[in-house]
Amino acid sequence: MRERILVTSALPYANGPLHVGHIAGAYLPADTYVRYKRLEGADILYVGGTDEHGTAIEIKALKDGVTPRELVDFYYEDMKTDFKNLGISYDNFSRTSLPVHHKTSQDFFLKILKNGHIERKTVTQAFCPKCNMFLADRYVEGTCPACSAPDQKGNQCEVCGKVLEPIELIDPKCITCGTTPEVKDTFQWFIKLGDFQDELEVWMKSNKHWRPNVVNFCLNWIKEGLQDRAITRDLQWGIKVPLEEGKDKVLYVWFEAVIGYVSSTKEWAEKQGKPDAWKDYWLDSKIVHFIGKDNIPFHAIMWPAFLLGYGEYEGRKWKLPYDVPANEYLNIGGKKTSTSRNWAIWLGDFLKDFPPDYLRYYLTSVAPESKDSDFLWEEFQKRINDELNDIIGNFVHRSITFAYNNFDGKIPALNRALLDDDDNEAIKNMQEVGKRVGDLITVFKMKDALKEVVSFAKSCNRYFDKKEPWKLVKSDKEKAGNTIYISLELAKTLSMVLNPFLPFSTEKMLKELGLGKFVWSDSAKLLLKSGKEISKPEPIFSKVPDEEIKRQIQKLENPAPMKKTLVKKEATPMIPFDEFQKLDIRTGKIVSVEDHPKADKLYVMKIDVGEERTIVAGIKSYYKKEELVGKKIVAICNLEPATIRGIKSEAMLLAADDGKLVALLEADKEMKTGAKIR
Ligand code: 2FM
Ligand code: ZN
Repeated sequence: MRERILVTSALPYANGPLHVGHIAGAYLPADTYVRYKRLEGADILYVGGTDEHGTAIEIKALKDGVTPRELVDFYYEDMKTDFKNLGISYDNFSRTSLPVHHKTSQDFFLKILKNGHIERKTVTQAFCPKCNMFLADRYVEGTCPACSAPDQKGNQCEVCGKVLEPIELIDPKCITCGTTPEVKDTFQWFIKLGDFQDELEVWMKSNKHWRPNVVNFCLNWIKEGLQDRAITRDLQWGIKVPLEEGKDKVLYVWFEAVIGYVSSTKEWAEKQGKPDAWKDYWLDSKIVHFIGKDNIPFHAIMWPAFLLGYGEYEGRKWKLPYDVPANEYLNIGGKKTSTSRNWAIWLGDFLKDFPPDYLRYYLTSVAPESKDSDFLWEEFQKRINDELNDIIGNFVHRSITFAYNNFDGKIPALNRALLDDDDNEAIKNMQEVGKRVGDLITVFKMKDALKEVVSFAKSCNRYFDKKEPWKLVKSDKEKAGNTIYISLELAKTLSMVLNPFLPFSTEKMLKELGLGKFVWSDSAKLLLKSGKEISKPEPIFSKVPDEEIKRQIQKLENPAPMKKTLVKKEATPMIPFDEFQKLDIRTGKIVSVEDHPKADKLYVMKIDVGEERTIVAGIKSYYKKEELVGKKIVAICNLEPATIRGIKSEAMLLAADDGKLVALLEADKEMKTGAKIR
């Protein structure tokens, strides 16, 4: 039976652009895994989306002067585009603000409540007397009580990862006004994590195949004794608590965001026209959550607790995560990525300057799988130039070029009788590399898997060099043909096993070899048809020059100010037709043009619109006087006259303005002045 797998990547907050740190953590490794498993023939579904609630959204919207809705609408599109351009191949990319997600989250809440694992409690919470509001999560900052790191947010310490309540912070401050919050009674609903303590501990200990950092973090937390955790908040923006007495509260973002994976799967199923198809992926499949390390407690303890708390769905148990391959952090030039200090490499910017596969290649080669790693521009250049170009690209290009130039643009024949030890060894290597690479990807060792590909490419180059086909072709064309046939097969295998990592370039390589869609097992086969034409090869990669790296470093160190959310302009309001008819718009001609005596940028003009009028117009920066005299124009003639720097203006010229240019409108036929525009 086909292996069924559901893969998720953390839902990024839709509150700012994606940066390379995000990509290295939860997206690129997931995509590589999914691409490989698809080729291997698994029944695999990859879902994600944007996380659109919580204080991370509210606070950024406040800062940008937009509504939370405007913020998330903007960044949903922004992220979706960036992911697409990087080749992150989601089967569905959803949003937590969709009705399907609100409904699914409320259903989880009510089921867990019914099963007795959620209870309402009175609590004292941080309250800002000045802002007159309860301060949930990130609305409070202070020192972490666990590790003493300063300036931590009220929901979680970024330094030690501890999940916090705002009132636990030492020296807390309201982030809006700086006031020290008071504590005040309110009520919230809590999930009783302790109900799942034993079951989670046994399960966690059985997860032998997980990364040790993930298991250790969780076992430590379990050992401390799992406490009740509030899963509702006093906020406006979010998913309403589905109870009468909770109508002014919303579900805590970390309660509902993880449920977003289920909602995204449901949305996918709906789009397929098979609304029940989501169930098998949640009730009978391997579930793999790719995340960054700060998300470990939510995915490896709380989320499994929610799933256990829900009980059965239509008589079947929810599957607990099969694995949660959490990555560590990717720093930039030795420093932690910081959006607030604008120390980041933004994905959108990167993709304007380099092909997506360059980023995919580099980020995989420095993947922070077991410890933090670093993005260094010089290192990026080295990897792209010395490995991607000189080893991988070079082998593929030289093999195809040789065939193209020396064998009439065709794949040469393979004469098995002439195969020698080197040929056989190369073929054997070709037959085995796919398994080696695939096995490493399966256990989420993407970096090692890529190393395996590079070492295969090196062996291909060694084979080519040793056989010296450029000499052989003169002395023994048939043997040279064998070498080139085998080299082309090696290039094909190299392209295939590299495909989950570099989908864009490998597609081009395969095309040059006359190949299209393939399955993973093809990488082990001799597939090429002798005599088949191949197209003239183009180099697939190019080197990154020193100046480009200098430019990037300069940009990193002196970044342009962070853009605020751009919100599309409000649609212009509709007006009834008779409002329009009130305008007296006419054709006309410019009769004379003078400088305005008291203003540098204005002309004073006489225009003929059936009668003569004087007007003052600010078009001096766009037109010379001589360009204007005699020119056809269109003017509004019944605006109330305005006196501009002492001169009365009796009409207004119509002009188009695209932000850069200003152009006067005119009728496109010669006609009398004063014709009505309607
Ligand atoms: O840390 C974050 O960016 C969260 N938005 C991740 C959520 S993952 C899942 F729960 F949706
Ligand atoms: Zn801490």
